[in-house]
Amino acid sequence: MELAALEKEIIEWDLSTPEAQQRFRQRFLKRGGVLDTLLGQLKDFPPAERKERGSYLNRLKELAQQRLASTQAAQAHQENPTLSDPTFPAFYIEAGSRHPLSLVEERIIRIFQRIGYTLADGPEIEDDWHNFSALNFEPDHPARDMQDTFFVDPARGILLRTHTSTVQVRVMERQKPPIRILAPGRVYRHETISARAHVYFHQIEGLYVDEEVSAADLKATLEYFIHSFFGEGTKIRWRASYFPFTEMSAEVDIGCLICGGSGCPVCKHTGWVEVLGCGMVDPNVLSACGINPERYAGFAFGLGVERLTQLIFGIPDLRLFGQNNLQFLQSFRGYAL
Ligand code: DAH
Repeated sequence: MELAALEKEIIEWDLSTPEAQQRFRQRFLKRGGVLDTLLGQLKDFPPAERKERGSYLNRLKELAQQRLASTQAAQAHQENPTLSDPTFPAFYIEAGSRHPLSLVEERIIRIFQRIGYTLADGPEIEDDWHNFSALNFEPDHPARDMQDTFFVDPARGILLRTHTSTVQVRVMERQKPPIRILAPGRVYRHETISARAHVYFHQIEGLYVDEEVSAADLKATLEYFIHSFFGEGTKIRWRASYFPFTEMSAEVDIGCLICGGSGCPVCKHTGWVEVLGCGMVDPNVLSACGINPERYAGFAFGLGVERLTQLIFGIPDLRLFGQNNLQFLQSFRGYAL
């Protein structure tokens, strides 16, 4: 009998049921089985062939024993899983992955920590004072409108914060300058959900208050950040803007990373994308928080985490961040920014 064919038979025998295992045992392992019979016939072979054939047959017997034993061990383990068999192959465990917004948030924080910023936070359910009044919003400012803000208790002005600038107020109320903080967090706005807008998103607020803080410090700090985050060659454009809580106010655009400045839907064919708002803290805000504007000055800025994440990963639709779509989330597995 061809021993190679026998070997193939041993390897390919279906061992899934107890009956199949019984037949396997009878054919290969029992007294009177094929291997036993062949071993018995060894004496009919010439001595030169006998030795090699004998050890081949013994290897086949061992192979049959091993296949049966490992199949039965696997089945026993499946029925009654324990860690008692250290030779058993490990189960594949699906590794988790960090959410892209967390990755980007952490990277932003690390860049600012290198120049001395520490973290601060505040509540998501806020009052009118911290979200609007202390930040110099006029009593009839449109942002206070029900159209833009989710009110928890409209009569008492309790609301879901619409920006992380609330944390500026909370920190200045309880801390004396020098202040140098970063406040990451979730904010809420009454928007129609689309590819470009959502009812919640994430911001990182920055605040620096001390004696003799100037707009030059603001510019140098934010250019350092943008070059660290997007790369040294990134083009930066400063635009005058308006926020109630800063005087002067500016917005910063960078050269669109998606199209390289030639124009695409992300930059609305302008070649530029806005990445942050900033300015010198309005003296009214310092006073409202108990800091003397004659002695101290400060700058502040607000970054949109979703915007930066979209730009760096090329994510076209904001809604992907909140959908728990596994295929999307798993594509960030093992990613370190
Ligand atoms: N709070 C602003 C917003 O939600 C962002 C912002 C702009 C924050 C300028 C600042 C700032 O601290 O100085 O759009």
